[in-house]
Amino acid sequence: MSEAIRFEDKVVIVTGAGGGLGRAHALLFAKHGAKVVVNDLGGSTHGEGANASAADKVVAEIRAAGGTAVANHDSVTDGEKIVQNALDAFGRVDVVVNNAGILRDKTFAKMEDTDWDLVYKVHVEGAYKVTHAAWPHLREQNFGRVIFTASTSGIYGNFGQSNYGMAKLGLYGLTRTLAIEGRKNNIFVNAIAPTGGTRMTEGLIPPAVFEQLKPELVSPLVVYLGSAACEETGGLFEVGGGWVGKVRWERSNGVGFNPLQGFSPEDVAASWAQIGNFEGASHPADTSQALGAMLTNLQKYVKLG
Ligand code: NAI
Repeated sequence: MSEAIRFEDKVVIVTGAGGGLGRAHALLFAKHGAKVVVNDLGGSTHGEGANASAADKVVAEIRAAGGTAVANHDSVTDGEKIVQNALDAFGRVDVVVNNAGILRDKTFAKMEDTDWDLVYKVHVEGAYKVTHAAWPHLREQNFGRVIFTASTSGIYGNFGQSNYGMAKLGLYGLTRTLAIEGRKNNIFVNAIAPTGGTRMTEGLIPPAVFEQLKPELVSPLVVYLGSAACEETGGLFEVGGGWVGKVRWERSNGVGFNPLQGFSPEDVAASWAQIGNFEGASHPADTSQALGAMLTNLQKYVKLG
């Protein structure tokens, strides 16, 4: 049995916590002793309207269970207000869970600028604004945990979700660099690609499966990633229905052409099978590991420095 994961004296912001996955995260953080800022604008899945009662209800639930929480009704695009609310209510911020999200599904052929922009604004700009406002505080106190909510639609693609997929994989790009920049200040940053039965997925998942994909089956991973016990950073995890797995990049060993002679499109065609041959593939963990194969190929033919 591992040591208990506790959050006494720690302040956690969960965005979009008025329902669905965010609500489950907020409840579990509070159960483990965290002071929680329950943020939710309370709009529709399409990002329209606003309603304070979503966040208020979750705060009432947390308090009824003996926990500590405050509601915040700002949009994540006003991230500095949410962080200020945490500071005003509890004097600090330790963990940011970027969870708020909307959908504006359309095929790319029918995509309108509003659908593209709104999805970008809530997922990417919103996560940026909240995290950027919290960042100096996390650095100052030499502790922070940040979780971004990606999606399998970003990792693998999904019909009708070009805007959403772009935003969700963008958040993993953000995760990778913040993990590098945050490490020296003990700020660890990870991303999850969850699956849960919420209003966002209702009607999209067969009802029998939907019923079983309880949001509560995503939150234990999020609470672990938000804890001091977690030493992981830069990770991407798929989670849902009681299952948790880790995703990483895989790269084939590739084909090295002679850089002095150059190579032709026909050479590419002739080597196509080998370029995509994943036997003995590698898993570069950073850009220097990634560039290694390229440099090794160059060094076969030229002296570098
Ligand atoms: P949900 O619709 O139940 O929850 C999203 C919450 O975000 C809502 O309560 C909404 O009011 C809030 N929100 C939307 N725009 C906001 C804004 N500008 N500022 C503050 N709050 C805002 O959906 P669900 O499923 O709980 O989604 C949570 C996150 O998980 C989202 O980022 C979603 O994209 C992601 N996700 C969910 C999956 C699933 O299977 N449910 C799959 C992959 C990703």
